[in-house]
This record gives sequence, structure tokens and C-alpha cells, in this order.
Amino acid sequence: MSKLVLFIYLAFFCGGTVLKAQSNKQIIIATKNVNLVFTVGANNRVYQACLGKRFLNQADNSLIPNNKHEAYIAGGMEDLLQPAIRLIHSDGNPSLELRYVSHTTKNSDENISETNILLQDPKYSVQVILHYQAFSSEDIIKSWTEIKNDEKGEINVENYASSMLHFEAKDYWLTQFHGDWASEMKMQESKLTSGVKEIDSKLGTRADMYQTPVFFLALNKPADETTGELLAGTLAWTGNFQFHFEIDERNALQVISGINPYASAYKLKKGETFTTPAFIFTYSTTGKGQASRNLHQWARNYGVLDGNKPRLTLLNNWEATHVNFNEKELVGLFDDATKLGVDLFLLDDGWFGNKYPRDNDKAGLGDWQENKAKLPNGIGYLVKQAEAKGLKFGIWLEPEMVNPKSELYEQHPDWILKLPNRDENYQRNQLVLDLTNPKVADYVYHTVVDMLTKNPGLAYIKWDCNRSMSNTWSPYLKDRQSALFVDYTLSLYKILDRIRQKYPHLPIMLCSGGGGRTDYGALKYFTEFWPSDDTDPLERVYIQWGYSNFFPALTISSHVTSWGKQSIKFRTDVAMMGKLGYDIKVSKMTDDELQFSKQADKNYNRLSNTIWFGDLYRIISPYDENRMVAMYVNAEKSKAVLFNYNLNTRYKEVFNRVRLQGLDSQKKYKVEETNLMPGAKSNLAENGRVFSGDYLMTMGLNLTPGKLIPLTSMVIEINAEN
Ligand code: DGJ
Repeated sequence: MSKLVLFIYLAFFCGGTVLKAQSNKQIIIATKNVNLVFTVGANNRVYQACLGKRFLNQADNSLIPNNKHEAYIAGGMEDLLQPAIRLIHSDGNPSLELRYVSHTTKNSDENISETNILLQDPKYSVQVILHYQAFSSEDIIKSWTEIKNDEKGEINVENYASSMLHFEAKDYWLTQFHGDWASEMKMQESKLTSGVKEIDSKLGTRADMYQTPVFFLALNKPADETTGELLAGTLAWTGNFQFHFEIDERNALQVISGINPYASAYKLKKGETFTTPAFIFTYSTTGKGQASRNLHQWARNYGVLDGNKPRLTLLNNWEATHVNFNEKELVGLFDDATKLGVDLFLLDDGWFGNKYPRDNDKAGLGDWQENKAKLPNGIGYLVKQAEAKGLKFGIWLEPEMVNPKSELYEQHPDWILKLPNRDENYQRNQLVLDLTNPKVADYVYHTVVDMLTKNPGLAYIKWDCNRSMSNTWSPYLKDRQSALFVDYTLSLYKILDRIRQKYPHLPIMLCSGGGGRTDYGALKYFTEFWPSDDTDPLERVYIQWGYSNFFPALTISSHVTSWGKQSIKFRTDVAMMGKLGYDIKVSKMTDDELQFSKQADKNYNRLSNTIWFGDLYRIISPYDENRMVAMYVNAEKSKAVLFNYNLNTRYKEVFNRVRLQGLDSQKKYKVEETNLMPGAKSNLAENGRVFSGDYLMTMGLNLTPGKLIPLTSMVIEINAEN
């Protein structure tokens, strides 16, 4: 068939349907493997023509038929489904028409290109710019929207999505991640039905406690780790979010992602622009595993603070002491940290407050001065003592919060979110500071910066946030209360920006009571996050599996504690698949346990580069079998680490051999079990032997040699032979 005939055939008869040849202007956003194409219709509206695998020959884009899905539906016009944007003009008109004006594409470097599509209402001076930043080698598209008011008066923007995407498939399978305190990130898959499904948060602070702002959307059939077509998406916003899925009467799906419009209409004066947070997504035709690897690679390169730099191992004192400690005891604990061989000692909650000492969670939050009884020589002394023992020193802060029993509350009752004519509503006996007030924002900034200036040796911060936002009223915002949720988060970002200008590389953990803040809006300021207060390793297997879908290992703080009754080996092996730390009474360890832990720390130092920066292959899901298997492979495919966890296995349960993934089939690899208890020998039949990558990926390994024992684990190091 000649090229011309083929073109006519494809253009007019593709899939048996008569299609109109594409003659309108196209806007193509492409990464190495992903294609997002818009067309500008004769009516000057912009339509999404396709989202999917990039063509082998991008010239094929010209064959894509016109499509009726408007790219960014504006409310009040003829489309009656959920709009991406809805606003009320200064004259009260509640409609918006968005017509194409122009678009530009610029390459910031050879990996990143940004396309901006400018839309304008023909009758009103409102402009919308749709931004699409394409990260080619990571196959990630980051999209966000700017809304600009040039009308004479104020406009009220009620919906302002970051992104709207359209799909046409037979079925749609949504995987969401939900939970609660100490049971975060439960993975749940369901088939979408006609109508609306929303995943959202209205919690304000600690916004991600019940639902995490991430999802997989598989097309036609459920995806697994290695097969299936899917979108993986996440919103970079540390506040209320909403993912809105709507299947229309023709079985098309539209997905709207952005800040939750709930109670958040945003007023824009003449000349003001609102910029939404970014929706970050990837598209995979080979299952969830590839989607996760794309996100991990993007996160390390662009999304997380110092994503390509090593992390510190640490000993935290929270589980060992809670708020009950004194200077001498802490200095004693430094020896425990050196025994383990970790890099840093992290002093948790309880070190501050004098008029209202922080001896429990009822008092002291907001008064960030060292408690004189507990720490007579201050933080500086502790930093020096730690340094003398070869340790770095870090500290816990919860700078956005206040206990009513505090000097801060007494001095600044108007700095606190609380409703007029209502009783204060407490969670963990605390209230949220009104960050929308610049004076309060300044106070929070100075809390952190003054502490770091006074104690230049401080090497780490754990930034906590232990309640969500009820009492939702800002004394500062007066008649602009509907801006509170948004302005709170924007103000938090400004504070973090200022801190980062002064301390660009200080490692800071995003904590929020475990799982409360897990998003890429915050992670550009933080090096890691605290996934859950639940450190029972059996629970952690599921929690860490969940987070691993969207966040790379070096961001997932995973601590060995005394939660759960499992062996120290099982607890450590589980923590090692993330960013290893300890929160445990070392003095209670047996000699064997301590010896094991010391060696494990050394092993981790050897393996951590592969875990932190390697590609993750999730091989067996704990949701499918009573075990979990995952491995990390470095970029050169010369080193890999495999983690195998037997969970609550049944008597005589049979587990098949496990085929490895991600290796180089041509390379020869030595397989060696590591992290064994002192004196223990590996049961692995293949231990110490050399196999080709091909063999390991075809025949695999028997990871349950001998008797299957519940709650046992294996760490296997796989090194290419030179
Ligand atoms: C909640 C955190 O998740 C814990 O690790 C600990 O830091 C406490 N807060 C301290 O109050």
C-alpha cells in the first residue's frame, strides 16, 4: 500500500469507524514513551485528542481523529458534567468560555520541555494557561493551571483543577490508597461505574490521613505489576485535594485532579493570578511496576529534596522514652547510637516548655525553649556531646501547632484558628496556628531558623503535624474565610521556601503523625517522610508496599522498633527496604540482637545505594500471597538486593519459585544471603552460587527452602561477576 493510500485508509476507516481526517492545529506533549495530544477545533476550543503510548513514528499524530472531549471544561456553558474550572465574573455571570489564543513549547534542557496553552474568554478578561511539563526520560508529565483575572472587579473562582484528562476504554479500574492513623496506605481496587467517584481530603492539615493523594487508573482490565495499561497520578499539594472520576453516558471517563473545591472558593482581584498545584502523572503499558519506577526516577531527579543524595541512618528516642528523659539519659542513649553504628541521634518530642513543661501532650507546644529541668545545658550541649561521640544530632519540632496550655497561646490568642461563638475543638489537646497571618508565619519561620542559628551543629529536623484542621476560621482572613485552606498551605510553602533559602540541604523529615503528609508538594522541601507510627513489621510490609507505588525507598523512613513480637531480624529486614532507622531501647537487646543489628547497619551501608537509587521490582504482593518479595536493581544492573518476607503463612503452605526481574540476562550474578543472625547459616540452596541473569529471571530462586516459618525473612544480595 502506498503511503498516501495508507494515510487515507487510517484517517478514514481506522477501527471500522468513519473518522474525520485531522486538519486542525495539534499540540503535542510527548515524553520518551507517552503521548498527550490536543487539537484546536474550528470553534477555537481545545480538545484532548489522545493520551497513551507514544507512536513509533510521531508523524502518526497527524492521523488522530478529532475528539469531542474539551481539554479543560469550563462551568456554565453547554457541557453539564463536572467542570475543571467554574467561576463567577465580577458582574455575576457564572459562565466561562475558554478559547485558544496561542501555545508555546520550550525546552529547558534536553530532558524537560514545557508547553503552555493560553486560553481566553472572548467576552470577559479572564485568561487560563494550561501548563504541561514533560520529563522525557522519566515518562512523567506535570500539569498545572494558571487563572488570571483582568476584569475590572473581583472574580470568585469556585473550581480550579490542576488537570483534566479524558479516557475512552471498555472498563476503568481504580486503585486508591486509604487508611487511618497506624493503618495507612491500604490498597483497594474497584471498577468504576457510571457516575461519580471521588477521592478527597477535607482535613486541611494532616490532610492525607484517610486518603493519600495518589491513584492508579487501569484501562480495560485491572493492571498488575508487569502488565496492563494504566495512569499513575498524584497531586503535589499539602492540603485538601480531590480526584474526581466521572463516567458519562457514553462510557467515557473524565478525571479531574486538584485542590478540593470544598469550602475553598478563591477570590481574585483585578491583575491577580491563581496558580494551582501540579498534578504529576505517568502512563504505562506494562503495569504498575513501570509506572512506579517512572515516578521514583522523577522524584529522585526533580521531586524530592536532594533526591540523588544519600540519607542519614538514625536512632530516634520516641519509642524508647516518649517525653520522659533528662540530659544524662539522652547522652547515655548516644552510646546506643554509636553501638548500632548509625549516623545521627534524633531527639523527639518533650524537650521544651518551662512555664508549661512538655511532660505530656497536654502542654508546652508553641514554647520552643529548652526545658531547664530536663536539659539544663540546652540543645547546644547535646549537639556537642553527640559530636564528641561521632554522631550528628537532630531535633523534633511541631511548629504549626499550639497547646492551649502554653505561653504562646496566652500571649497570642488571635494567632490561632478558632471559630467565633464556638468551643475550641482539640485533637491531641492542640490547636492549629493561623499560618495565613504573616506574623504567625514569621514566628514559625523564626522558630526553626533561630533554633538552627543558635545551634549550628543541628543536622536534622523531624517536622511533625499532629492534627487536622477543625476550628476552621482565621481571625486574620476576616471576610476571606474561604481562602483559609488554600492560603494555609501556600503560607506553609512560603515558610519552607524561606527556610530552604538559608538551609538548602538540611535533612528534614516530613512527619505528621505518620501518613498525614505524603505528597510531592511538600517533598520538594523534605528529604524523607514518616509513613506510619505503626512500626509493627507485619503491618509495615503492607504500608511500605503501598507507599512504594508512588515514592522512592530513600523517602520512606522505616524504623526498627519494639512494635510487634517478631524477631529482630524480621523487624530489621523490613525496615531495610526503606530508609533505615531505629527507635528502640538498645539496652534491652540481647548480645546476639545487638551484634546482628551492628552488622545489619554495616550491610545497609553497603546496600543502601542500590535500595535508594536503584529500580524497584515488586515481584510478589502481600495482597496476593502470604509473603512479599521485592528487589532493587542498580542502574548498571550490576547489583541487586532482594527482600523476601514470609507473613502469617499457613501450615504446609506452598510457595513457588520466584522469578527475579530487572537483571541483565547476559550477566553472571553471585547470589548470597546476607543479614543472617550471628552463627546462622543460609538455607538458600543457591546461596553462594553464580547464575546468569537469564536463569534467575527464568527459573528463579526457591525462597522457602526447608520448613516455612511465619514471620521470617531473607535479604539476598545479587552481585554481577566481573
Ligand atoms: C507523632 C510522630 O509520628 C511520632 O513519631 C512522634 O514524633 C510523636 N508525634 C511525638 O509527639
